[in-house]
Amino acid sequence: MSHLSGSLHGEMPMKIRAVYPGTFDPVTNGHLDLIRRCSALFDDVIVAILRNTDKTPFFTTEERVEMLEEVVKDLKNVSVTTFQGLLVDFAEQRKASVIVRGIRAVSDYEYELQMALMNRRLSSKVETVFLMPAETYSYLSSRLVNEISALGGSVRGLVPPIVEQRLKRRHRQRR
Ligand code: PNS
Repeated sequence: MSHLSGSLHGEMPMKIRAVYPGTFDPVTNGHLDLIRRCSALFDDVIVAILRNTDKTPFFTTEERVEMLEEVVKDLKNVSVTTFQGLLVDFAEQRKASVIVRGIRAVSDYEYELQMALMNRRLSSKVETVFLMPAETYSYLSSRLVNEISALGGSVRGLVPPIVEQRLKRRHRQRR
């Protein structure tokens, strides 16, 4: 790996920048667990929210940026931004050599493998790395969080407090 060969030759080791992409609608404690793992593993982490014009998200892109910025503010090597278009183009533009994706269960694997191999075909400069969140979050998803919250259930412990508050407020407005 160039990271290692650089240090073997007495040069400065190359810094590794990772992109952690997703919809984050909204960010859950599972996402946050993964962001913390990324922060410990890589020199620099960009959390990249897809600006998807096809889907109607529950929270606007701006709201999702705000919530993510709030929950990662203690992690100095993590930044939050948005992207449009191909993920590999974004990663290359930002000089990131790693895309991080989370795998919660075997059911995630097929879709993730397909995306990782397609991204590899699209760019040889970016490698996908899979990380597992803590098992406590293996059944957690943004979709379920939204559904539970819409039906008046508690999502405490599943999402950061700022997300819990915003979900409550939004669902109250909708009722
Ligand atoms: O949180 P999600 O919805 O699982 O994230 C999916 C995401 C944003 C990673 C994926 O949809 C994506 O990379 N979209 C950008 C468009 C792109 O590059 N498509 C080709 C993927 S092989």
